[in-house]
Amino acid sequence: MKKDVFIHHRPQWKTHIGFVLAAVGSAIGLGNIWRFPYLCYKNGGGAFLIPYFIALFVVGIPLMILEIGLGHKMRGSAPASFASISKKWEWLGWWQVIFVMFGIVLYYSVVISWCFNFFFYSFNLSWGADPNAFFFQKFLVVSKGPFDLGDLRTPILFCLLLVWLCNWVIVFSGVQKGLERANKIFMPLLILLTLIIVVWSIKLPGAREGIAVYLKPDFSRLKDIKVWMDAFSQIFFTLSLGFGIMIAYASYLPKRSEIVRDSFIISIFNCLFSLLAGFGVFSILGYMVHSTSKGFSEVVDQSIGLAFVAYPKAISMLPAFQRGFGLIFFGILVIAGLSSAISILEAFTSAIIDKFHYSRKLVVSVLSVAGFLGGIIFTTQAGIYWLDIVDHFLTQYGLVLAAIFECVILGWFYKAAKLREHINHYSRWNLNKWWWDSSVKVITPVVLISLLASSLIEEFSKPYGDYPWLAIVVIGRDWLIYTLFFAVIVASHAWKIEPKNRMLSLE
Ligand code: PHE
Repeated sequence: MKKDVFIHHRPQWKTHIGFVLAAVGSAIGLGNIWRFPYLCYKNGGGAFLIPYFIALFVVGIPLMILEIGLGHKMRGSAPASFASISKKWEWLGWWQVIFVMFGIVLYYSVVISWCFNFFFYSFNLSWGADPNAFFFQKFLVVSKGPFDLGDLRTPILFCLLLVWLCNWVIVFSGVQKGLERANKIFMPLLILLTLIIVVWSIKLPGAREGIAVYLKPDFSRLKDIKVWMDAFSQIFFTLSLGFGIMIAYASYLPKRSEIVRDSFIISIFNCLFSLLAGFGVFSILGYMVHSTSKGFSEVVDQSIGLAFVAYPKAISMLPAFQRGFGLIFFGILVIAGLSSAISILEAFTSAIIDKFHYSRKLVVSVLSVAGFLGGIIFTTQAGIYWLDIVDHFLTQYGLVLAAIFECVILGWFYKAAKLREHINHYSRWNLNKWWWDSSVKVITPVVLISLLASSLIEEFSKPYGDYPWLAIVVIGRDWLIYTLFFAVIVASHAWKIEPKNRMLSLE
């Protein structure tokens, strides 16, 4: 029977903890370690935690449950899951995975490559006395503008190859032997190293002042709508939602699974990790302020600068074990980044395998080469400009649009109540109807549409980052349209075996 072939041949997590660690690995990424602390600082310190945790409980966890519940029920990647609901929604699944595979992971891997480089630089503190000049002029050798590509930066290109080699080896080895095994090593190591860094940092002189700046609430900032927007978009990005990743990971769950409990664990753990990382980051910044005559605002930089300029500077100022500190800090970034990158590769791989039945080894190999080649533009001297523009568009528009469609299709067309019934049938923790249904059907779409509207208003009043309009049009608008077009084409292909056949029914 065809259905049996699917149920029995679908890879499965070997252990429950293996799934949780893999999902946490996807969620915890570069964004937790430097973007979150910076957002906190920018948006009213401790007061930012209020919109952040509201966003977590009002939209983050409900959507995590939605994606994990959908993957569990449909036993398929995002395109297969949406196609099981109705063929007319399959394009959304493809759009999500194309988006993240031919968008986010391309530049995300380049940032991991920077981290790799800085990991190696930590051996002899190569950034010297002026890390700012080192990063921008010697390492990136930034050109004048996005269209002045200049040369390829060999150190970045070389480490990008290393990143894709790691991605390839892990995803190539499959769900149990690759993803599960890697995350079972990565996650405990990540937590251990982070704890070492945090304990080390909070003992430094000035750390207390740094933490005070990080957490001291400025409640007046809560009146600013932008603070709320930052909190909500950070929650989506940090939980890896809207890209079909959690759908794919959940499709490898066994029948009896704790969907609701696991969604809470994964989401809360991710956010607590961010909070913890913030203690480390701000303690060391406090130490810098303490050791120099500079003020806090001069030390805290934009997100990229924070990791690659402020941190190296602080490392060089440490009284002892500078190299060890550098190795651990950049090692943490590499591990956190890799465990997220492999989840992206897996989301696309599982989609192709589900629909076209090619072998995993072939799909992963082709995608890894494509991913490496696609990332090359970001390793040029203009790479940082492209990275900044692509990141802005993908997170502000692509992610938001995909998540709006996801909520509307699942909440209204498929019906949230139907999915809730499935989730409650298999989990011991039962979903509260009012909290969950209203979040999926009303609150999340309304929040996301407001996010989108405010980004658009800002975009039209001033082109993002003062880049030339051409760069913005090529990347922003055209890219969204082409990927959508591509998604519709792939979705129009016939399935060899009906995706519905893999669906789990209530029994
Ligand atoms: N959650 C990751 C982070 O915080 C980023 C990510 C986004 C990973 C989307 C996968 C998909 O860095």
